Amino acid sequence: MTIRDILKMGDARLLRVAKPVQEFDTPGLHALIADMRETMAAVNGAGLAAPQIGVDLQVVIFGSAAVNPRYPDRPVVPRTVLINPVITPLGLSEEEDWEGCLSVPGLRGVVPRWSHIRYTGFDEWGQAIDRTVDGFHARVVQHECDHLIGKLYPMRVRDFTRFGFTEVLFPEISLAEDD
Ligand code: NI
Repeated sequence: MTIRDILKMGDARLLRVAKPVQEFDTPGLHALIADMRETMAAVNGAGLAAPQIGVDLQVVIFGSAAVNPRYPDRPVVPRTVLINPVITPLGLSEEEDWEGCLSVPGLRGVVPRWSHIRYTGFDEWGQAIDRTVDGFHARVVQHECDHLIGKLYPMRVRDFTRFGFTEVLFPEISLAEDD
C-alpha cells in the first residue's frame, strides 16, 4: 500500500470522464483500493475518487468506521467501495450544505445536492450494491461520483458569497490537515 499524491484543482486529469472498470477482483483493482484507503486515511478524508490520484477509472471510496475528525458533527457513513456507480435522484428535493474536497484544499463552499438518491454499482469483488439514502450519505456519494465525470464541487456552487477559506469561514475548526 502506498499513500498517493492527491491531484489539486487545475490538473486536467481531474476533468476527465473516468472509464468503467471492466474486470473485478483483480490484483490491480485491489491494489488501487488499498492505496486509496491509505491515502484517504492519511488526510482524514470523507471520501476519495480514483481520478484524484490520477487513475482514470470509475472507483470511489467513502465512509468511515467512526466519526471523522474533519466532519465531527456528521453522521457515520458506512465504509464503501463503489465501482461503476449510477445515481438516480428520488424526487426533486434538494438541500444545501457545506462541502470541502481534498483536491481543493483550504476551501469550503455551500453546494446543492439531491436530498434523496438511489445508487447502484459494484464492490471490488463485483458484488452488486443497491442503496437508497439521504442526507450526508447522499451528499458524499454525489460529491465522490462527481469526480468520475470531471466535476469538482466549486463547479456546483451557486452562491459564491458562501464559498471561501475554511480558516476564515470556520475559525473554530482546527484541522490537522490543510483542508
Ligand atoms: Ni472531492
